[in-house]
Amino acid sequence: MFFAVTQIIAHRGASKFAPENTLAAFQLAEKMGADGIELDIHLTKDQIPVIIHDTDIKRTTNGRGFVQKFTYKELQQYDAGSWFSERFSDERILSLEEFFAWILPKDLFVNIEMKTKVIRYPNIEKIVFQLIREYGLENRVIISSFNPHTLYRMRELHPNIELALLSKVAFRNIQQYLADTGANVMHIKSRLLSSRMVRAMNHHDIPFRVYTVNRKSTFKQCVDKNAAGIITDRPDLFSMNETVHQN
Ligand code: G3P
Ligand code: MG
Repeated sequence: MFFAVTQIIAHRGASKFAPENTLAAFQLAEKMGADGIELDIHLTKDQIPVIIHDTDIKRTTNGRGFVQKFTYKELQQYDAGSWFSERFSDERILSLEEFFAWILPKDLFVNIEMKTKVIRYPNIEKIVFQLIREYGLENRVIISSFNPHTLYRMRELHPNIELALLSKVAFRNIQQYLADTGANVMHIKSRLLSSRMVRAMNHHDIPFRVYTVNRKSTFKQCVDKNAAGIITDRPDLFSMNETVHQN
């Protein structure tokens, strides 16, 4: 793996300017010059991977209840944009497949964060992997998770797909831990930038990316510490297309 420049990945899309994890946020991220898009995945009652951060739809739609209690079709009745601003009232919860169809012709990669830490969705790894394969996106995805078991299961499905272990805390024996999970990259919280773990990762040539970086000063720190990429709510701050702003 070789990262020539620091990758700019839009966190839940350009989520500072549009409702997180919606098509509007993804379109804006592309316009702002992001290299990739980070999004979060849960599974519906009818086993469809959908793009939403929480286990429950309450915070980001006008409905309430756990994602896993609804079919994909039932979820479509909810407005996933008005909580952010009335002008986004047409946004709906997207399926991962709809997102794949959108991203396919574009020059963007995708970081799929599998939200399997709280609710265990049986077979979610197989379902997501099958979709990736159907769309031929094996070389354009990074799968990340706070749950090492999810990464382990993903590694069993594909020997080379990029797998990132998410962590909010620093830990020792990072090489061993990555070897055990099958992950090849770390995605770490920005407050860990000065930790011993970052020094160890640089020492052992373990690539890492940093979330959530919304300040130029933190971005500079990331570059100084050799981060392969950052995950940001504001791709407009760091990409080449700095002229694209949202009013
Ligand atoms: O993937 C980085 C970041 O998205 C992890 O935390 O809660 O924003 O999904 P969260
Ligand atoms: Mg996430």
